[in-house]
Amino acid sequence: MSKSIRWGILSTGRIAHKFATGLDDLPDTELVAVGSRSIGTANTFANQFNIPRRHGSYDSLAQDPDVDVIYIATPHSSHQENALMCLEMGKAVLCEKPFTINVQQAEMVIQVAREKGLFLMEAMWTRFLPHILKVQQIINDGLIGQPQILQASVGDQKELDPSNRFFNPKLGGGSLIDVGIYAVTLAYLVFGPPAEIQSLANLSSTGVDQETVVTFRHNDGQLTYFSSSILHHMPRDATITGDNGSIYIHPDFWHPSQITLRVNGETEQFIEVDCPLNGYHYQVLEVNRCLKAGRSESSVMSLDTTLHVMNTLDTIRRQWGLKYPME
Ligand SMILES: NC(=O)c1ccc[n+]([C@@H]2O[C@H](COP(=O)([O-])OP(=O)(O)OC[C@H]3O[C@@H](n4cnc5c(N)ncnc54)[C@H](OP(=O)(O)O)[C@@H]3O)[C@@H](O)[C@H]2O)c1
Repeated sequence: MSKSIRWGILSTGRIAHKFATGLDDLPDTELVAVGSRSIGTANTFANQFNIPRRHGSYDSLAQDPDVDVIYIATPHSSHQENALMCLEMGKAVLCEKPFTINVQQAEMVIQVAREKGLFLMEAMWTRFLPHILKVQQIINDGLIGQPQILQASVGDQKELDPSNRFFNPKLGGGSLIDVGIYAVTLAYLVFGPPAEIQSLANLSSTGVDQETVVTFRHNDGQLTYFSSSILHHMPRDATITGDNGSIYIHPDFWHPSQITLRVNGETEQFIEVDCPLNGYHYQVLEVNRCLKAGRSESSVMSLDTTLHVMNTLDTIRRQWGLKYPME
């Protein structure tokens, strides 16, 4: 592997654009290749970001010998197939959230990476953001006492188009696995996996969850409740309440954001958390660190965490009878 980590981007959609912006400015990082289903789109994207190597198929990108790690940013329904192809070609993989459609798919991809000793991580960027590290530090320092209740909401009004990835079941549509996953991941970070799950959803005419309400009881009795939506613009904030205070994570809680700490319900401190990088790039630094250290897994965003979260998402969907066509 060369001194710089050589990145390839698989697909050219919205998040791929955000991810590519400024990537080359990171230390030891080169954006060397992009792959798209069409060479025209690959060229347009490559011209915009000065990417030297452009591929008119994902397969061709996966075979590119000058690429070390591939970032997968296709719709959820393609993650398993794309990740398996990249791993088969010996590439390290950073795969967008949700990692796959369900836990069985996730297990298959993880098994291949582990057998081959290749690096693999879910692109759960939130886990690496400075304000979330600050939240973890406040909790670890005991400033709010023992955390007891987490509340969160996450949702946006999406275009009511049955063919887009938000409403189309063939692309893994629905609010839970697209954005509810941020609340599930935050709950996991604060309390660990849920011991008990209750949930309700309203399904769209296309059969995916357009709005949900989910509650967890965790092992020591702590509670999580959150709501997700693709119909409404929700408050998009989160509050962690402990027996000595609370942490309010300002909207959007899963993006770079600020926090307000209240101790004993009295003193209130607004904490501006500096986030100098493109928020999508903190996870890139972690991937680079792992690759340079010869590690095949991140200890911050572990593959076991991904499996736990996928398992929880599956359990919730089962409560509504929501099965995707590929399941
Ligand atoms: N971390 C975050 O903050 C964040 C934010 C948004 C989305 N995401 C995740 O990133 C993934 C992509 O989301 P996005 O919003 O970027 O989607 P998008 O704008 O629809 O882009 C998806 C891209 O995937 C490729 N693609 C392959 N098969 C496709 C198909 N059947 N239909 C449509 N596109 C297809 C296309 O690229 P080519 O034409 O070049 O092949 C397309 O541009 C999702 O899994 C989502 O959960 C993460």
